[in-house]
Amino acid sequence: MGLPNFYLHECGTGGGVFTTGGSESILIAVIAARYHAIKRLKKSQEEKPDNCFLPKLVMYFSEDAHSCIEKTANICMVKKRKVETDECFRLTGCALEKVIKEDIAKGLVPFMVISTMGSTSTTACDKISEIAEICQRYPNIWLHIDAAYGGNTLICPEFRYLVEGIECSDSFNCNPHKLLNSLVDCAAVYFKDVCKVKEAMHVCRHTVNSEEGDDYGDWSISLSRRLRGLKLWYVLRSYGIEGLQHLIRAQCCLAKCFKTLVKQDERFEILNDVKMGLVCFRLREGNEKTKQLFDSISKEGQIILSPTVVKQKQIIRLCITNEKTEEEDIHTAWNIIKRHADKILKC
Ligand SMILES: Cc1ncc(COP(=O)(O)O)c(C=O)c1O
Repeated sequence: MGLPNFYLHECGTGGGVFTTGGSESILIAVIAARYHAIKRLKKSQEEKPDNCFLPKLVMYFSEDAHSCIEKTANICMVKKRKVETDECFRLTGCALEKVIKEDIAKGLVPFMVISTMGSTSTTACDKISEIAEICQRYPNIWLHIDAAYGGNTLICPEFRYLVEGIECSDSFNCNPHKLLNSLVDCAAVYFKDVCKVKEAMHVCRHTVNSEEGDDYGDWSISLSRRLRGLKLWYVLRSYGIEGLQHLIRAQCCLAKCFKTLVKQDERFEILNDVKMGLVCFRLREGNEKTKQLFDSISKEGQIILSPTVVKQKQIIRLCITNEKTEEEDIHTAWNIIKRHADKILKC
């Protein structure tokens, strides 16, 4: 995937652990970041209990970040700031710095930014290099990259420019179960400095022989762990890196093919920059007609599409994830969509 060497366990302080999914990966990162933020604040006020500092801590993410991030902020009882995205649904350094400055002026403590590489709604990729620069300027801000979906594309070198700035990140998560045929649950989270996570998560367990090496219970939520790595190992062995690269590229290619079909029909518009296997489209007539179109297709049940709303726009998403999908299926899907659109737009 071309991740920086510091994320690899054998190269220094870093390392990764398998998790149940993106939600757990992000929760671990937030717990670690929160622990160290409180530790820094406590230096001058030792006598205060940890929870005194919670109302001061703020984490930042884009308005299009996955809902699990907001949920994590709630679980961890820290403040959250959803930052407005640009016209391509990306979080930019400029928008981030503006809200960080506002919060500092209010006496709050920015402690974490979660940037997204491949958002759920549109596969948008935040401007990580700009965000990283801001996090450098305000030291003590932990930068996490949520690449639950998009991170899988990094096995193809041509996608790696999308994580420019990753060298300044503190943690990174990716779900092979999304694009790498590994079936749920098979996800991973990486840390630049695993000791920071262990320090935040460690509890003494008399039933574990610490001489036996790393206790992954200190790196993640659950203590008993299934052997998720085995699933991925089988996938890697049976496809090989080239097979998996082909899988990703084929999905992206089919998405582009679908985009071309949609663009030829002036009743429709494309909403996202189609880089990965997801196409976001809608009827130019607006939200109501788009919603009717989605409902009509879903009720018939021949194809499965999914809805989203971004910047108040109702959107339909066509996502390709199955390796058996072929160009013919894309044409079939498009013909179904057009048939329903004919019906809806006549009414
Ligand atoms: C970008 C992104 N982040 C996080 C998640 C949450 O991952 P999980 O469902 O594995 O908890 C998802 C899942 O859809 C996602 O697309």
